[in-house]
Amino acid sequence: MTHCVAILGAGIGAEHLAGYLALPDRFTVAAICDRDEARAQPLAAKAGAAVVAEIAHCLGDPSVDLIDVCLPPHLHAPVTRAALEAGKNVICEKPLAPSLIEADAIAETAARTGRRVFPVFQYRYGRAVTVLRALRERGMLGAPHVATIVTHWNRNAAYYANPWRGTWQHEMGGAVLSHAIHAHDLIGLLFDPIESVSAMLATRINPIETEDCAAIAMRTAGGALVTSSITLGGADDVTRLRLVYGDVTVESGSAPYTPAAADWRFVARDPSRQDALDALVGAERRPHEGFAGYLEDVADALDGRPHTAVTLADGVASIALAAAIYHADRTGERVRLPLDRSLAIAARLAPA
Ligand SMILES: NC(=O)c1ccc[n+]([C@@H]2O[C@H](COP(=O)([O-])OP(=O)(O)OC[C@H]3O[C@@H](n4cnc5c(N)ncnc54)[C@H](O)[C@@H]3O)[C@@H](O)[C@H]2O)c1
Repeated sequence: MTHCVAILGAGIGAEHLAGYLALPDRFTVAAICDRDEARAQPLAAKAGAAVVAEIAHCLGDPSVDLIDVCLPPHLHAPVTRAALEAGKNVICEKPLAPSLIEADAIAETAARTGRRVFPVFQYRYGRAVTVLRALRERGMLGAPHVATIVTHWNRNAAYYANPWRGTWQHEMGGAVLSHAIHAHDLIGLLFDPIESVSAMLATRINPIETEDCAAIAMRTAGGALVTSSITLGGADDVTRLRLVYGDVTVESGSAPYTPAAADWRFVARDPSRQDALDALVGAERRPHEGFAGYLEDVADALDGRPHTAVTLADGVASIALAAAIYHADRTGERVRLPLDRSLAIAARLAPA
């Protein structure tokens, strides 16, 4: 089956479009929706799609079965819910929602309408992550013990000229929510779910409301310890993970948007096992990386084929983790997950 898509938002929507165009027998892009029609025009021309200014027009189009939300963050939750109510399946860029309560409301709407939401975590898609998942399934890694995550990017005044960025109202968070969210998602995937968090955040690089530096310590459900260092004041853009399992130490590539596409280092703790490890690492392939890999998995999920698509629960977990990090910084407490939904302050990203 070919899915008929409307992409809302022509910024990162251009990268999503490239993913759809790489999968012509799975998707047709019917519309590019942006209130800045001049921005939508070149994308629409590439896809043979219509330019649409109004979101409601796409939600009301019976030929569209999948809405791809690439809008500024504050619009994600309301537009996702409206699309579900209109009977559409939804792909939603990060972050899913401004609070855990609203993330839960999306899950409730999806359950009630019988439609699906796929949060965007395209960092999961690349040969290296495929290899790591396969090694884990075969019991080749041993228990996760320790990880370090580096998200050191360079963002300056030109980046913040886009008025939604750097604000609690519209971006809803800073580098924790917008930039490190992908690498934090990988810990849940490659280690275990995060179970407790301590954090210190700061705004040191740009004159914005939200944080642009962070030092975070986390413990996973399995007892592994994870540190995450974040800044938007790096000289270049580096995302890097170093994952220490009982039997293998793994070091990622460093590309900011496609870290899993690069060759990662897999080093056996017992040197006699290195050749067997290298043989397995060399054998794994995945045809599509990044957004195309992510979208292929979404198509498989929609078509009832075997898949590992990002789930709505993964998106809700990413908002819960961000809320826990903000709460840990504001209170100085170590915050446990899952968060108590009755703690309104703990469920909100923006300060009270
Ligand atoms: N997954 C990733 O790696 C990744 C990378 C970049 C951005 N993002 C996320 O994607 C989202 C969009 O980011 P961006 O950089 O493309 O932003 P952007 O501001 O460049 O683009 C958003 C577009 O939405 C349009 N828009 C805003 N309100 C609208 C409305 N009511 N109706 C129609 N169009 C409207 C704007 O005109 C703009 O063209 C953000 O949530 C961001 O965090 C994700």
